[in-house]
Amino acid sequence: MASITIRNLDPEIKQALRERAAANGRSMEEEARLSLGALAMASAPDFPMLPVDGTTASNPSRQLLAGKRICLIIGGGIAAYKCLDLIRRLRERGAAVRPIMTRAATEFITELSVGALAADTVFTELFDRQAEHDVGHIRLSREADLLVVAPATADLMGKMANGLANDLASTVLMATNKPVLLAPAMNPQMWAHPATRRNLETLRGDGIFFVGPNAGEMAESGEAGYGRMSEPLEIVDAIERLLDDRPKPLAGKKIVITSGPTHEPIDPVRYIANRSSGKQGHALAAALADLGADVHLVAGPTNLADPDGVSVINVETARQMHDVVHQLLPADAAIFVAAVADYRTEGESEEKIKKEEGGIDALTLVENPDILVSVGKHSSKRPRLVIGFAAETQNLREHAKSKLKRKGADYIVANDVSPDTGIGGAGGVMGGDRNRVTLISKAQIDVWPEMSKAQVAAKIAELVVEALAEIET
Ligand SMILES: Cc1cc2nc3c(=O)[nH]c(=O)nc-3n(C[C@H](O)[C@H](O)[C@H](O)COP(=O)(O)O)c2cc1C
Repeated sequence: MASITIRNLDPEIKQALRERAAANGRSMEEEARLSLGALAMASAPDFPMLPVDGTTASNPSRQLLAGKRICLIIGGGIAAYKCLDLIRRLRERGAAVRPIMTRAATEFITELSVGALAADTVFTELFDRQAEHDVGHIRLSREADLLVVAPATADLMGKMANGLANDLASTVLMATNKPVLLAPAMNPQMWAHPATRRNLETLRGDGIFFVGPNAGEMAESGEAGYGRMSEPLEIVDAIERLLDDRPKPLAGKKIVITSGPTHEPIDPVRYIANRSSGKQGHALAAALADLGADVHLVAGPTNLADPDGVSVINVETARQMHDVVHQLLPADAAIFVAAVADYRTEGESEEKIKKEEGGIDALTLVENPDILVSVGKHSSKRPRLVIGFAAETQNLREHAKSKLKRKGADYIVANDVSPDTGIGGAGGVMGGDRNRVTLISKAQIDVWPEMSKAQVAAKIAELVVEALAEIET
């Protein structure tokens, strides 16, 4: 499927898209994608119309943030403009926003706009005689329920990781005893720089939370890649998750989940793989952790960040995945999202196979252990709930139904991964951000409409809550 470059659109269309995206709190790419999706769905009578709000973002009426105090630290990046909308979104959900701006941030947006939207004083100076008569920087760091840094610049991340405190923002971040959420935004080269990678690891180890960055076009440079700040509603979503003090329905439940592809080695440099990105499995692990589950994610090789609040064990081959899953039993539920290779090569070479020395004529394949069946039919340690995923390119329902029986699963989540579904962009369902699944159990076949993988994950997490509750009664 072709991709759209916003820059190449007609100026009037671009302007209309910009206005609509701003009104909906989305990026222009996201707005374009959802509008096209809605149009396509409208012309396909067999499928229900997608709500244009295809994001995971919360609804203001949920009021999870009512009365919460957010200290918003705005860093000096081009994405600072998104903070104006972020402030609006937080306030319409009942939160109070106390803004701090770095000196660089004031080069991008004005204190006047930030203060007017927050309806509060904007703090910028560490050595402020009026604010410091009662050690204002300590007060700012303690009087909030959560500190949010958006955009978190490479510079601010570097300062935090190294314990520097040479301006108001970095001093407040050092002095706080409250959770801190970072929404990084920077050029993809800066994000990929070894120094930023080191700082990211250090900050994760220090218990700092992250949202984003997303992949996409950079506003200032015409470059593309990971580094775009999350959209305001995505940041609101992350804030709501961190401050959500409602009882968690999966608290105390241990869930084992697999995600990503497996790599089956031919020799030390070559392997057999598949197109799985791990996006669906990782999103599901995150959704289950949000509901309070003790989630153990067994992940094949992916480019994804570890989901917050999930314990991740990285593996490469199907056999390793099988062994780790079994070591993690017993569990309350096991969910097998990974696209595990059915076959591996027989007699993996310990040395690189040289073309000059005969090369590879043919590969002999042997079957890998079937992880789903080994858990679904386990004689003593079968979790009370077992869910398998089935990626099919034809006869989806028939294959999934027979899999349900053969493998001892309670549910099969089947998806059509053939490239011509038109779902998920250039990479198709396996690499893309969207999915259309059919849920199959002994009792029913339920076709879900196309939605984002985060939404599929949230719905499956709800199903897990219901299914475990039903099993317990
Ligand atoms: C036009 C422009 C855009 C910039 N965008 C970013 C950015 O998105 N992310 C980033 O880390 N730095 C960006 N910088 C560099 C920061 O402004 C610079 O590192 C600054 O010292 C950050 O200060 P602060 O971390 O105290 O806010 C940008 C600089 C300019 C001139």
